[in-house]
Amino acid sequence: MGAKNASPMKFAHWVSSASGGLVVSKVPQRTDWGLEYNIRLAKIAEEVGFEYALTQIRFMGSYGAEYQHDALIFSTALLAHTETLNIITGILPGMFHPGVVAKHGATADQIFNGRWAINVVSGWCRAEYDALGVPWVEHDERYVRSQEFIEILRGAWTEDDFSYAGKYWKIDGYTLKPKPLVIPGRPTPEIFQGGNSLAAQRMAASVSDWYCMNGNTPEGFKEQINYVTKLATAKGRTVKFVANAFVIARETEAEAQAELERIVRGADTEAVENFRIAVKEAGQASKEGKGMWVKSTSRDLIQYNDGFNTNLVGTPEQIALRIYELRKIGVDMVLCGFLHFHEETRFFGERVIPLVRELERAAPMKRQAIA
Ligand SMILES: Cc1cc2nc3c(=O)[nH]c(=O)nc-3n(C[C@H](O)[C@H](O)[C@H](O)COP(=O)(O)O)c2cc1C
Repeated sequence: MGAKNASPMKFAHWVSSASGGLVVSKVPQRTDWGLEYNIRLAKIAEEVGFEYALTQIRFMGSYGAEYQHDALIFSTALLAHTETLNIITGILPGMFHPGVVAKHGATADQIFNGRWAINVVSGWCRAEYDALGVPWVEHDERYVRSQEFIEILRGAWTEDDFSYAGKYWKIDGYTLKPKPLVIPGRPTPEIFQGGNSLAAQRMAASVSDWYCMNGNTPEGFKEQINYVTKLATAKGRTVKFVANAFVIARETEAEAQAELERIVRGADTEAVENFRIAVKEAGQASKEGKGMWVKSTSRDLIQYNDGFNTNLVGTPEQIALRIYELRKIGVDMVLCGFLHFHEETRFFGERVIPLVRELERAAPMKRQAIA
């Protein structure tokens, strides 16, 4: 693939819709899972330059997060209180009919001016399926189901009299009205996906707009970006990439590292070990034994999306440079988690994003040719 001009790095933040914060540690975390707190957070985020927010989907507590608001309802409540932020709603295909989600998404998109997006997550938490009596299917099969789910979303969103004969769902001459808004360059609401196994990568290349990656090293990101891009290019498609990071930005590197060490020292080790067992259903259960959490150490798992590994821990200058490096290898969006959501979202937006913009202006970037 030839080099091409890259657009500026985009920034997303985790919505705080589950209790307990984003690290399983006894350190103080100034956060709250309520609506008022999250409206304030979303308003701060859009004021300081974030374009997206991601709402996770969970049906029960596990590894912290004892209380969790429903992702779709919570996302639409936030959309009602914001002006520019795009809210990405986590959806588990095993729990929903795609026609119902297509309907929800079309209405949310119409009402909120094209700011609704979806994150199709294929599932790792078997306990929630078992508790609800919903069949748990094996790893790679979950991606067969998710791919059908996405194909049905796209079909219902773009075609009249839409039919589909899949293994999991059959659609017979369905016409969705209203459809989502059609915006130049955005034919349907944007479709994100989670999961980093080979099955997840193949699905991204085939049907997703965005591929979300757990925290990783630049080499770890690059490997996934190159592989997904290669598969997508062969299909005439383009996929964009999101990198998760737990950001600790402080005036000095020593302060940032000390905060990280406090989080690690305060880790709830029993919860971490339970999580390690639960996530064996993820990448480790795939045919190749690759994917999310396969290589995670206990320290990594304190942040449940491996966010420390992205190493956005340091001064604003250090973090901005590392983000710029990520942009160069093809990361299109950084998904940020913070310890103290309100104040750190503002600090990041006011102190880090402008530095990233300066770097982008100083050296207009060509996205590296991807082999
Ligand atoms: C950024 C990101 C967000 C995710 N959000 C959720 C979520 O809200 N709920 C959920 O059950 N899984 C979530 N996942 C998990 C994945 O969708 C996937 O089911 C799991 O990691 C297994 O992936 P793998 O085995 O393909 O690597 C998320 C993953 C990523 C990378």
